[in-house]
Amino acid sequence: MEKGERLAVETIIVGLAERSYPIQVGIGNLGSLGSLCREGGLSGKAVVITNPTVAALYLAPVLRSLVDSDYEPIVLQIPDGEEYKSSETLQQLYDGLIENGGDRGSFIIALGGGVVGDIAGFAAATYLRGIPFVQVPTTLLAQVDSSVGGKTGINHPRGKNLIGAFYQPKFVLIDLATLETLPEREYLCGLAEAVKYGIVLDRDFFEFMEAHIQPITERQKDALLRVVATSCRIKSSVVERDEREGGLRAVLNYGHTIGHAVETLTGYRRFKHGEAVAIGMAQVSSLAFQKGLATDDETRRVTALLKNLGFFTELPDYSPDDYAEIIGHDKKKRDDGVTFIFNRGIGDFVMEKIVDVRTLLLTCVRGEHR
Ligand SMILES: NC(=O)c1ccc[n+]([C@@H]2O[C@H](COP(=O)([O-])OP(=O)(O)OC[C@H]3O[C@@H](n4cnc5c(N)ncnc54)[C@H](O)[C@@H]3O)[C@@H](O)[C@H]2O)c1
Ligand SMILES: [Zn+2]
Repeated sequence: MEKGERLAVETIIVGLAERSYPIQVGIGNLGSLGSLCREGGLSGKAVVITNPTVAALYLAPVLRSLVDSDYEPIVLQIPDGEEYKSSETLQQLYDGLIENGGDRGSFIIALGGGVVGDIAGFAAATYLRGIPFVQVPTTLLAQVDSSVGGKTGINHPRGKNLIGAFYQPKFVLIDLATLETLPEREYLCGLAEAVKYGIVLDRDFFEFMEAHIQPITERQKDALLRVVATSCRIKSSVVERDEREGGLRAVLNYGHTIGHAVETLTGYRRFKHGEAVAIGMAQVSSLAFQKGLATDDETRRVTALLKNLGFFTELPDYSPDDYAEIIGHDKKKRDDGVTFIFNRGIGDFVMEKIVDVRTLLLTCVRGEHR
């Protein structure tokens, strides 16, 4: 930690009865991992799952902290990349757990971004029918989104996240200092999810981001603390009310239906997930205006916030038929309609089943509020 930097710690409790757990957000607090594990009653073998990119940056302090608390940590590394969130990698993790004598007293520490968190969490959920696990998310996306809420899993060649389990960690440890080394586009992807929370669930948070563009883009610690802690608080309140995605949790798909179509049409090469979701959010906010759910001014503010943070907001040039075809096949499709989340003004939302996606999308393709 740099001299003079304060070690601010905020704790958010995800309240899920006997599965409740704390999220600790701090700056330079990675070294408290071992003692937090002890306080959490975790004994036995600590198995750290990470990848070479993250290991080079943060494994040493993590191991030091565990050893200082009298653990004998084991490290299992998986290759870096979404394509390794697979059954083959999972099998290698099970092999590693067995070879190292992982037993029911052992626990897993997921050190990395959403890929490591999802697969390590799923390994924990399934190994010996479930052993405890801890999330130490090191990307902004993992800190504001994937480490909160207990969704774990892997991809299948036929689709993303098709295999998984709801499995809550014992605690989440977030060290904002780890974001200093995150590549710019990865940082932006996490911001997209934070902006999403503001648009549909928290007007004050939206206005905070509007007023702090520079501190946020410069990753100033105070701004990061507010962005990450608020995001965790918002996501956990959604998860508390709908742990297993029966209803309300669908609000977290705001911007994602169009975003997924953008990712698919551009072959997952041109845009990262968060960049595609930003386009989706700009388009849906425009649709909200068309439907009389948001004012012209509110719609412009949504697009302006996204642009000012550095996002591209225009819909790539494919026909409404192309978009409608893909959205019709979206996994969120139920019966013969697609559930869309629209923002109601800023800070609120409505869910609506859309049957004629093509007609809805004609408005987007015509392009308002650029
Ligand atoms: N479980 C959930 O609820 C949920 C929610 C959203 C997304 N996800 C999943 O999360 C995954 C995406 O997560 P992600 O965006 O974190 O991607 P990621 O895990 O691939 O990380 C992005 C890149 O950043 C690197 N990295 C991680 N921390 C770093 C650091 N501090 N400094 C420098 N580099 C660092 C990683 O090695 C990787 O190369 C997807 O698989 C997605 O399905 C899950
Ligand atoms: Zn997302």
